[in-house]
Amino acid sequence: MGYFRDNVERTEGYTPGFQPKAAEVVKLNTNENPYPPSPLVMKTLAEIKPEQLRRYPDPLGNAFREAAAALNGVKPENILCCNGGDDLLSIAIRAFCDEGHPLAYPIPTYSLYPVLARLQNCEAIEIPFGEEFDLPAGLATTGAALTIVCNPNAPTGSSVPMEEIAALADRLTGVLLIDEAYVDFAEQNCTALVKDFDNVIVLRTLSKGYSLAGLRFGYAIAQKDLIDGLVKVKDSYNIDAVAIALATAAIEDQAYFRQNVEKIKKERTALTEQLRSLGLTVPDSHSNFVFAQVRNGSAARIHKQLEQRNIFVRYWDDPRIQDKLRISVGTEEQNEKLISALKEIVSSGGDRS
Ligand SMILES: Cc1ncc(COP(=O)(O)O)c(C=O)c1O
Repeated sequence: MGYFRDNVERTEGYTPGFQPKAAEVVKLNTNENPYPPSPLVMKTLAEIKPEQLRRYPDPLGNAFREAAAALNGVKPENILCCNGGDDLLSIAIRAFCDEGHPLAYPIPTYSLYPVLARLQNCEAIEIPFGEEFDLPAGLATTGAALTIVCNPNAPTGSSVPMEEIAALADRLTGVLLIDEAYVDFAEQNCTALVKDFDNVIVLRTLSKGYSLAGLRFGYAIAQKDLIDGLVKVKDSYNIDAVAIALATAAIEDQAYFRQNVEKIKKERTALTEQLRSLGLTVPDSHSNFVFAQVRNGSAARIHKQLEQRNIFVRYWDDPRIQDKLRISVGTEEQNEKLISALKEIVSSGGDRS
């Protein structure tokens, strides 16, 4: 067409996980939480006043900032509210990267990073993870303006200890964004690093542990100078009034949050064991999904056969991971449906034809 900047013209754009329309599906392809949001969120939604919609929202979402600061043991000035974690990724790449200021990250990882880099016309330095998905040594010396480490990582579900991330932050000359989208299901998080390092940004989302993927709410935790700089780059009203109210209610109901996270972790253990007993190789996951390697390179076939049974999991036609399926942890009932479909497919040889 010729109207767009060259790098936009060349970019395919991010491919989101398929959102099936039918109600009767087992949807395990986009790492949503299978349980509803907190009743406090739904009560807050029912009590939204016309006045909250008529007026512009608080540009910084201070009610949420205060609640999130209390939850994370930091000050409100250390919190930046975002329209989902993806908004923060986009803000950070726009803030730190351009043609002369590359982005770096270990791969395989979240497939949005290279898309955002192309749109920003910055180089994306991709360094493969080590054998055990440990941090690659070269990551510290790329000279990138922004380095992103997804921890726990997607789609592998693997996790790097905080001490190694701290050592990386210490060696980097640029900013380190730790994408903790899945940290609600992990054993540790990196919030403590924000106090020690002026180059660390921690990303959080309410899409996973808080069951609010449809609301679009995430936030950054960082030292004040970094937050102040990011505020200059964000849209003036990047979060809406309803989202601020509902997100605040969600993080104030920690009892409900913890209860759901525990249920998902328990189901994760059961799902992992069942998949292993079917012969799939499934590393321990620190997220709300598992990354399962199938035999005989049959991932594409199994993915298709599951889809025909209205069961959706995620598959990438990428040579590095095309023998694997990423499966979100669902309810006990959803996981059972998946397992019995997989048993059927394997026993009928459907993974081989
Ligand atoms: C690794 C990773 N980071 C960030 C996000 C952003 O999530 P959201 O924009 O829903 O907050 C996702 C969403 O799936 C993700 O997988």
